[in-house]
Amino acid sequence: MIKVTELTKRFKSGDSIVTAVNNLSFSVETGQFAAIVGTSGSGKSTLLSLLGGLDRPSAGEVRVDDLVISKGSDRQLIKYRRDMIGFVFQNFSLIPNLDATENVMLPMEFVGVKRSEQRSRAVELLEQVGLKGSKQERRPSRLSGGEQQRVAIARALANKPRLILADEPTGNLDSATGKSIVDILRQLSHSSATTVIIVTHDLSVAQKADVALRLEDGALAAT
Ligand SMILES: Nc1ncnc2c1ncn2[C@@H]1O[C@H](COP(=O)(O)OP(=O)(O)O)[C@@H](O)[C@H]1O
Ligand SMILES: [Mg+2]
Repeated sequence: MIKVTELTKRFKSGDSIVTAVNNLSFSVETGQFAAIVGTSGSGKSTLLSLLGGLDRPSAGEVRVDDLVISKGSDRQLIKYRRDMIGFVFQNFSLIPNLDATENVMLPMEFVGVKRSEQRSRAVELLEQVGLKGSKQERRPSRLSGGEQQRVAIARALANKPRLILADEPTGNLDSATGKSIVDILRQLSHSSATTVIIVTHDLSVAQKADVALRLEDGALAAT
C-alpha cells in the first residue's frame, strides 16, 4: 500500500517560492491502478518524483508498505528505487545501442542476476507486453513508439517492483497505441501485486482507474 500524508514540496524560483505539491493526503492499495490528472504545471511530475524517491518532500510523508521512504537515507533511496520501483516515461528513455532484450536485462545486471537468467526473464517479459520474435533483437530506433514503450514497461518490470510509476507514458503515442499501452499497465496491476500509478491527460483513463486524483496548483481537487 502507498500512503501519502500531508505531502508538500516547495521549490525556490528566483526570489519566490513555488509550492508544487501542496498538503496532499491519499492512499492507493496494493494492486490498484491509479490515475493522476491535472493541467500542465499542476504538480503531477513532482508528486511522482516524491513517490519514487527521486526527490524529498519539504513536509509530510510517503509510506510504501512499512517503509517511510521520505525519511530514508540517500543509500536507502537508491535501494528503494532499484528494488521496489519501475519507472516509465513519456520519451521511453531506452538505451539506444542496446537491443530490446538487453534494455530489459540491464536492471537485472544491476542487482546481480545471472546472465542466462536475465535473458530468459527479459524474453518472458517482452512476450508479456506483446513484443515478440525478432523485434526482441532490434534496437529502439528500429521499433515504433508503441513498441519502444512496451520495451520500457518490460524493463520497468525487470526487478519485480511493487510500484510502477508512469509519467504521461502515452504522451508521444497516437491514441490507439496509447490505449493499448494503458491496457497493458492496467492488466498488469490487476493480475499481480504491482501497484500502478499513471499520470495522464486522458480523462477516459482516469474514469476507468481504481483511484483517480486531480491536481490543481499542487492540491487535490474534486474529480
Ligand atoms: N526543480 C524545480 N525547480 C523549481 N520549480 C519547479 C521544479 N520542478 C517543478 N517546478 C514547478 O513546480 C510546479 C509543478 O511542476 P510539475 O510537477 O512539473 O507539473 P506537471 O508535471 O503537472 O506539469 C510548476 O510550477 C513547476 O514550474
Ligand atoms: Mg509533468
